[in-house]
Amino acid sequence: MPATIVIGAQWGDEGKGRVADWLAAEADVVARYAGGDNAGHTVVVGDKIFKLHLVPSGILHDHVVCVLGNGMVVNPVNLLREMDQIAAMGVEVSPERFIISSRAHLITPAHVALDSASEKALGNQAIGTTLRGIGPAYMDKTGRKGIRAGQMLNVEEFADALHKMIEEANVTLSRQGGVTLDPKQVALDYIDAAERLRPYIKDTTVYLNTRLRDGARVLCEGAQGTLLDIDHGDYPFVTSSSPTSGGALTGLGIGPRYIDRVMGVAKCFSTRVGSGPMPTELHGELGNRLRGTGENHWDEFGTTTGRPRRCGWLDTVVLRYAAAVNGFTEMFLTKLDVLSGFDELKIAVAYHVDGVRYEYPPVTLAETERAEAEFITLPGWHEDISKVKDVKDLPDAARTYIQKVAELCDTPITTISVGPERDQLVYI
Ligand code: GDP
Ligand code: IMO
Ligand code: MG
Repeated sequence: MPATIVIGAQWGDEGKGRVADWLAAEADVVARYAGGDNAGHTVVVGDKIFKLHLVPSGILHDHVVCVLGNGMVVNPVNLLREMDQIAAMGVEVSPERFIISSRAHLITPAHVALDSASEKALGNQAIGTTLRGIGPAYMDKTGRKGIRAGQMLNVEEFADALHKMIEEANVTLSRQGGVTLDPKQVALDYIDAAERLRPYIKDTTVYLNTRLRDGARVLCEGAQGTLLDIDHGDYPFVTSSSPTSGGALTGLGIGPRYIDRVMGVAKCFSTRVGSGPMPTELHGELGNRLRGTGENHWDEFGTTTGRPRRCGWLDTVVLRYAAAVNGFTEMFLTKLDVLSGFDELKIAVAYHVDGVRYEYPPVTLAETERAEAEFITLPGWHEDISKVKDVKDLPDAARTYIQKVAELCDTPITTISVGPERDQLVYI
């Protein structure tokens, strides 16, 4: 594998972190290419549970070099906190094995405050963002007035840029009746962070291309999910970056000729945090069963915000679309163990809107919001499958479920997981 991309096929939280951790064992470099600390990737290693927001899952393998690509937005203070937390759990996070693109954009307190103010102003139309400043940071990037990580290398230039950004944000914040920020304090905190992060900042584009040319195996770890993509998701209920496969190329500065594997990660039911359409959402008893009570660490409560995730049946309209948008060469199906215990399972195969049947999402958001899912019903199973290692030992109903999903998405499912731990995998 010269380069593999791991991508969320739904609305995020599909289990990309655990899949990237599994593939990282065979990789030399693991690179994040989009988003920021809105992501929350949980990886279980023995008795340790890592909750990674910015640092790629590859950090948990000693031989791997990790990269934060140019397509990301990085909050330096939160990054340092995460690096310290991981280091306290016994993982080395040195500049030899962790590098940050000089072209990645920085999230400042201005962006965080503007994210909150914007959500507040939207009232019941709010997007339900993670309030990490992601949208405003990408707005500054595309508005050509953002601050890039490389600017941290020159203290004076960095302090001036920060000061200017905070003063400008204060004008907007006070107009919206929000709390304004102290530019001097922000500059002080961020200059401290810049001093610590300076050794990690590099031209990661040159680094990645050199490594690829020399035969290194690169794993591109996606964040968020296809339906949260700024172009391909349920706009405006999306994040502000490109989590899809095209985003991996621009977000790392590598060419398509290196990519030979595009792995879509799909949870075997649907979850979503935040607002936006979700035609298979279940309210009541069934939704609560899929979500879990919060007792297990894998139950459906956000890694980043702790919010309960909306839950529903698997939606193959979404998966079919994700397979097309990203060009999946295969899919990895997670959390099959959670489906044990249902008498029957439903899978959405199409939507109906105003008398028209859709096998891909309809054109407008308003139509998707009105969409009624057409389901097929499959038999469930009651066995505990969390210890199954061989596909032959899965109940017939579980094998039928997997086959049906692959068929409906016209994409092979090559691996499934039956629990959050590293070895809870079944190869198909
Ligand atoms: P990501 O953002 O795509 O990396 O996914 P998250 O880490 O936010 O959410 C996935 C959750 O499911 C985490 O708590 C994982 O530990 C857990 N998980 C992943 N795969 C499985 C699985 O096969 N079974 C169970 N029960 N939990 C899983
Ligand atoms: P991982 O990588 C699930 C959602 C937010 C909100 C929308 C916009 O863990 O899968 P933002 O803060 O990005 O402006 O919020 O996107 N969102 C996620 N949902 N998993 C994520 O990341 C998400 N990152 C953003 O809930 O609906
Ligand atoms: Mg997550």
